[in-house]
Amino acid sequence: MSAMDIPLHEVAQSVRPMTEADLPRIHRIEVASYEYPWTPGNFADSLKAGYSMWVREADGEVIGYYVLMVAAGEAHLLNLTIAPTWRRHGLGRDLLGHCLARACDHHAGSVFLEVRTSNTAAIALYRSSGFADLAVRRGYYPARDGREDALIMKKDLTC
Ligand SMILES: CC(C)(COP(=O)(O)OP(=O)(O)OC[C@H]1O[C@@H](n2cnc3c(N)ncnc32)[C@H](O)[C@@H]1OP(=O)(O)O)[C@@H](O)C(=O)NCCC(=O)NCCS
Repeated sequence: MSAMDIPLHEVAQSVRPMTEADLPRIHRIEVASYEYPWTPGNFADSLKAGYSMWVREADGEVIGYYVLMVAAGEAHLLNLTIAPTWRRHGLGRDLLGHCLARACDHHAGSVFLEVRTSNTAAIALYRSSGFADLAVRRGYYPARDGREDALIMKKDLTC
């Protein structure tokens, strides 16, 4: 099923903690979303480390997820992904809002993230959700033609 088949408001949706059982489905979304996807092992290690990891479901199927690490009053958003066919329906913004609320639950004062400078969709989402550009980390990511810069962004929380 995709967002195109049924109006979104008619789809039963929920957000719940990620489990190991979600990893095969998440792997399919990762591979469809990134040239350099996280491996199932990356997710399994993050689950073991106790990171805040949540999935969004539509009609019982995972269609998005995020990974948030919180330590010493700072949160780091490590992954935020919506499955390709479900994009541009406000679900990414909604899931980011859920993530910021979890950061508040963990008493974080700010949230940091890194994003490829070519990722205009994600950068637009973050800027319009109150993230500010903090710095550029040169050659941070692998890329087909060598390396790509990361934009480091930060949002101060007023929980
Ligand atoms: C980034 C991502 C999570 C956005 O999810 P989404 O559900 O499509 O986003 P939304 O529909 O909530 O859109 C929120 C805002 O993001 C921006 N945006 C989303 N897709 C965009 C696109 N293709 N081009 C430009 N801006 C875009 C817009 O500012 C949009 O606000 P608007 O609808 O008011 O214009 C999704 O594109 C994705 O999973 N991409 C691949 C994984 C990824 O790059 N994750 C981020 C890693 S740092």
